[in-house]
Amino acid sequence: MQVLITGAAGFIGFHLALALKKRGDTVIGLDNFNAYYDPQLKRERAKILKTHGMEIVEADIRDQPLIEQLLQKKEISHFIHLAAQAGVRHSLIAPNDYVASNLQGFVSVLEACRKHPGIKFIFASSSSVYGLNEKIPFSTEDPTDRPTNFYGATKKANELIAHAYHHLYGLAVTGLRFFTVYGPWGRPDMAYYRFCEKICRGEPIQLFNQGNMARDFTYIDDIVRGIIAAIDLGAPCEIFNLGNHQPVPLLRLVEILEERLEKKAIRQFLPMQPGEVLTTYADIEKSQRLLGFHPRVSLEEGLAHFVEWFQRSLNHSTAAENR
Ligand SMILES: NC(=O)c1ccc[n+]([C@@H]2O[C@H](COP(=O)([O-])OP(=O)(O)OC[C@H]3O[C@@H](n4cnc5c(N)ncnc54)[C@H](O)[C@@H]3O)[C@@H](O)[C@H]2O)c1
Repeated sequence: MQVLITGAAGFIGFHLALALKKRGDTVIGLDNFNAYYDPQLKRERAKILKTHGMEIVEADIRDQPLIEQLLQKKEISHFIHLAAQAGVRHSLIAPNDYVASNLQGFVSVLEACRKHPGIKFIFASSSSVYGLNEKIPFSTEDPTDRPTNFYGATKKANELIAHAYHHLYGLAVTGLRFFTVYGPWGRPDMAYYRFCEKICRGEPIQLFNQGNMARDFTYIDDIVRGIIAAIDLGAPCEIFNLGNHQPVPLLRLVEILEERLEKKAIRQFLPMQPGEVLTTYADIEKSQRLLGFHPRVSLEEGLAHFVEWFQRSLNHSTAAENR
């Protein structure tokens, strides 16, 4: 397969690229290395991808002519669209970043893809589309028309726009609703990563809604297996949940980090933040049935891998600073 991954220098794109390359696919990555979080981390991921023989194009997804050229020149069979402005909290401060990447950028890549017959388009959606949905676990059959934040609204818009492109042009589209993905090389803006940093530094960690929240934390390797299964299925038009199917209270996440780091956290309890939801919980019956998706990694095991990587990279950067 000839696969183009947008957001390849991002957390999920990086791991997916390595896994696809390992099984023998040709992988080309694209990323604009923006400064939403430390671009150095993105550069380090890209460097590793390059050492594995992958080409990484530095470009914005809104550059439609460039993407059209890439699709033609490289005879791309699968377009894996992961580039987006992520993060719930940031969407309250900078909604236009989401308009640029998640709406304008999304349409620009679809416009490029529809001119390239036979291509399969697989894109990242999010558990955030469930918004105010109270029925648990969250099923892809549940209504998703009440988002609680602008990020979720743009991800829902992506699903609707992709459906329209399928209907109009016969483009094969698959949307994957990821649930709180974590692991080595993760995103520094996410709670598990920030907590880890703050516990190490002896700084207080902020627990919103007095810590009474739960998330369906899903380990990166399970997510990568799910994405690859969706690539191999090549469905005409589907939406899948990719989650661990096991929500864990936030306070348990903190306990596991304390155990792994052998250090107590300073807990700062705060009220609920606007835009947040109490629980996420994926119903994965459809993903099990059609993708053979069976998450294997517990939060305890996954966080052990994360903390091991975190401590190694901390030592590495301290050593680099001291040089
Ligand atoms: N990590 C999660 O828990 C999670 C959960 C639900 C959905 N998602 C979605 O999965 C996808 C990947 O997430 P991630 O955690 O790897 O995030 P990430 O921020 O690490 O990766 C996204 C990458 O896309 C790039 N990018 C952003 N806008 C771009 C643009 N306009 N042009 C080119 N490149 C651009 C960024 O530089 C970044 O490297 C995103 O679409 C995100 O919304 C992630």
